[in-house]
Amino acid sequence: MHKDVTRILYSKEQIEDRVREIGRQITKEYEGQEVVFVAILKGSVVFLADLIRNVELDSTLDFATVSSYGNGTTSGELVMKKDVSVDVEGKNVIIVEDILDSGKTMDYLYKHFTAKKPKSLKSCVLLDKKVEKLFPIKADYTCFECEDLFVVGYGLDYAQYYRALPYIGELNPSVYS
Ligand code: IMP
Ligand code: MG
Repeated sequence: MHKDVTRILYSKEQIEDRVREIGRQITKEYEGQEVVFVAILKGSVVFLADLIRNVELDSTLDFATVSSYGNGTTSGELVMKKDVSVDVEGKNVIIVEDILDSGKTMDYLYKHFTAKKPKSLKSCVLLDKKVEKLFPIKADYTCFECEDLFVVGYGLDYAQYYRALPYIGELNPSVYS
């Protein structure tokens, strides 16, 4: 285990099993249709790579980057720093995100992608943090819930580090306080 991680919340094996389950669910629900996975950079890339290999459908991928305007605090306005490069009008879009915290990012993404008139719009998240949501939003597919802790690994970062850890763990608060 990494020295900055206090405990493992979800192991590599637990993640593998759960991603396989979610993949099967998506495969079943979109049977006979195509989907476009829109992954939100950078936190969702590890999850995306595993997820798509567990979905047996004709699918395509694209990426988007959302960032906070201003001084990097959560109160900043969100902007689409890099939008998708494909036309998603009339397509089945699945937004792939790392974590739902306040819901602000997902709320912004829903509005942004709804405006592009997809055939359908759903969201798939690795984690849903058990906090009071500022934006009442639920993902259509959620791998795991987690306590209100700062978590890293399996794509999730702190200051861009820890993304490559194969598990999801709690970051030692001494790292950021
Ligand atoms: P929200 O807009 O408040 O829902 O925050 C979602 C975004 O905050 C995610 O896309 C993550 O980038 C980031 N985030 C929230 N909690 C964590 C965490 O525990 N670890 C790493 N990133 C987090
Ligand atoms: Mg993010």
